Amino acid sequence: MNIQEIIYTAKALIANDKGLLAMDESNPTCNKRFAALGIPQTEEFRRSYRELIVTTPGLAESISGAILYDETIRQHLKDGKSFIKALTDKEIIPGIKVDAGAKDMAGHLGEKITEGLDGLRNRLQEYAQMGLRFAKWRAVIAIGDNIPSHGSIEANAHALARYAALCQEAGLVPIVEPEVLMDGDHTIEQCFEITEEVLRTVFNQLYAQRVTLEGMILKPNMVLPGLNCTKQESVDDIADITVECLLRAVPAAIPGIVFLSGGQSPELASARLNAMNVRFKSRLPWALAFSFSRAIQYPALEIWHGEEANVEEAQQALYHRARCNRAARRGEYNAWIEREQE
Ligand code: 13P
Repeated sequence: MNIQEIIYTAKALIANDKGLLAMDESNPTCNKRFAALGIPQTEEFRRSYRELIVTTPGLAESISGAILYDETIRQHLKDGKSFIKALTDKEIIPGIKVDAGAKDMAGHLGEKITEGLDGLRNRLQEYAQMGLRFAKWRAVIAIGDNIPSHGSIEANAHALARYAALCQEAGLVPIVEPEVLMDGDHTIEQCFEITEEVLRTVFNQLYAQRVTLEGMILKPNMVLPGLNCTKQESVDDIADITVECLLRAVPAAIPGIVFLSGGQSPELASARLNAMNVRFKSRLPWALAFSFSRAIQYPALEIWHGEEANVEEAQQALYHRARCNRAARRGEYNAWIEREQE
């Protein structure tokens, strides 16, 4: 491993107020999203959709890196170019989701453990040889009656740290994603408490596994009330509470924090990220950026609907959302920018 190169890549991923585009849905997840819109769930439709994304004109103005899925890195654009080459030609750094998904955890009803450590060293070597420069592993933590348990938080944090150490050994930047889910009627205070515990546990494990913090990126949830909670805090309150939680639990050595969107609407995800940067940017040790999937892709996916004739309009919607989120990184997102596309 060349740790200086890893640190360089980590910095490049959060440079110039850009962010990441997560387009790494597993086949079952991608098919579920297609099925909801009546789009055929075939390999060719998944390929076409991903081609629409990576060939979006101007995407690199706002996007520094794209997270792909194993199927996509072995596919090609219509002109024969590989997806990895198409991205690197645009100076978008290609990355790859490497976890094998969150599975029911034995002895822990209602909780999940993310699998994928077996054979990971060999897979990472192959990915590095293919030109991928970073990886992602997602752990999911649900809030509910008597959950999460310490056992599931510890096990998921341990797996994240083992994965991160293997990534750095292979020369890849690990994106460490512990997601506390929005589902449920919990309050923002409960989300704060659980998110703080999860992050502290994750960083303890990263330390124990000798992960170089300067060469990794954290991908957390924002601190939010549950989707069914009757009290929904304002954009500014969410910005304040999220930053307070992160300042308590995230070491200053990491270069950047890239939020997942987690089911927030595209506009709210942009507005909340913007509020954090407006209120705190100059005073934070790390960059606050984005690594959204749904909050960047959804409008484009809905417009595309599996129809070739809709590609250009869908690409405009994708470009627009990426641009809104870059504005949010700069603290310059507002209603005028949001409406600009219309
Ligand atoms: P969302 O932004 O849709 O939450 O997805 C982010 C992601 O990469 C999930 O692992």
